Amino acid sequence: MELKNKKVLITGGSAGIGKSIIHELTKQGVQDIAVIGRRKEPMEALKQEYPSVNFLTIQANMSRPDELTEAVQLISGEWNELDILINNAGVVSAGLLTELSDEDIINQININLTGLILLTKKSLPLLMKSKGGAIMNISSGYGYIAMPFYSVYAATKAAVGQFSDAMRRELHQYPLHVMTVYPSATDTPMMKTAKMGQMDSPEEVAKVSVKGLLNEKMNVILGGPEREEQIKINFLEPEKIDQFAIANYEGLREGTKNHRAM
Ligand SMILES: NC(=O)c1ccc[n+]([C@@H]2O[C@H](COP(=O)([O-])OP(=O)(O)OC[C@H]3O[C@@H](n4cnc5c(N)ncnc54)[C@H](OP(=O)(O)O)[C@@H]3O)[C@@H](O)[C@H]2O)c1
Repeated sequence: MELKNKKVLITGGSAGIGKSIIHELTKQGVQDIAVIGRRKEPMEALKQEYPSVNFLTIQANMSRPDELTEAVQLISGEWNELDILINNAGVVSAGLLTELSDEDIINQININLTGLILLTKKSLPLLMKSKGGAIMNISSGYGYIAMPFYSVYAATKAAVGQFSDAMRRELHQYPLHVMTVYPSATDTPMMKTAKMGQMDSPEEVAKVSVKGLLNEKMNVILGGPEREEQIKINFLEPEKIDQFAIANYEGLREGTKNHRAM
């Protein structure tokens, strides 16, 4: 896929992995980028950082369907076209299910999943006009291998993967590539309250993701062959992953007990 001159909408492009994806897109000659986020200032700062890019910055919350409708209307009015949708915005709240507030459960689902699905639905009339477009959905390693204390987050991310696969099959007659990225732990603002060991850099995740887009890969899985092997084990012999989770339970609990980025 050629990215030059493509019109891109990315959610959560003002920080972390999304911001690094914008950097990679500019290296590929992308000039028109619409960004959705809740806070205005970090989106406005992108205009200073990348003066050659025409940014459409849209203050909207992924959990508000009306704001997503308005966002797509704005893009339609400004561009009347859209080639690539990158569903990246996400939140996390870790903990035992019994400890999670109802609000954090509902908001993780609304932001990570319902909002992503609604924005895709609302963007599709524009995307379907593209002569060569794509939808890139950012899931998580936990979308393949769920871990204790991330029950709700993992559920949203597994659903994102299934949504991608279904959409790719549903849209096969359009020149729209649908792909999913499964990052491992990545050093972004989302991870400030988690105690993790080794993390990938957002720059690396973005590089691999955009390379996957260029090569029209269906799934971009961070973590190398070892991770791919674990995914196979999780599918064929889930009791082995259960044993890993049990053996590491207290460490996982300690490292994730304050992990919240909502
Ligand atoms: N970091 C990791 O270890 C990791 C691992 C696997 C998967 N992921 C996934 O990768 C994606 C990006 O994560 P990240 O680590 O880069 O996160 P991040 O550093 O916290 O950045 C999140 C971005 O999303 C925006 N956002 C959050 N909630 C939003 C909402 N309700 N409406 C609109 N925009 C919203 C944020 O802007 P505002 O706050 O201004 O809205 C920000 O631009 C997420 O889907 C995450 O689940 C991350």
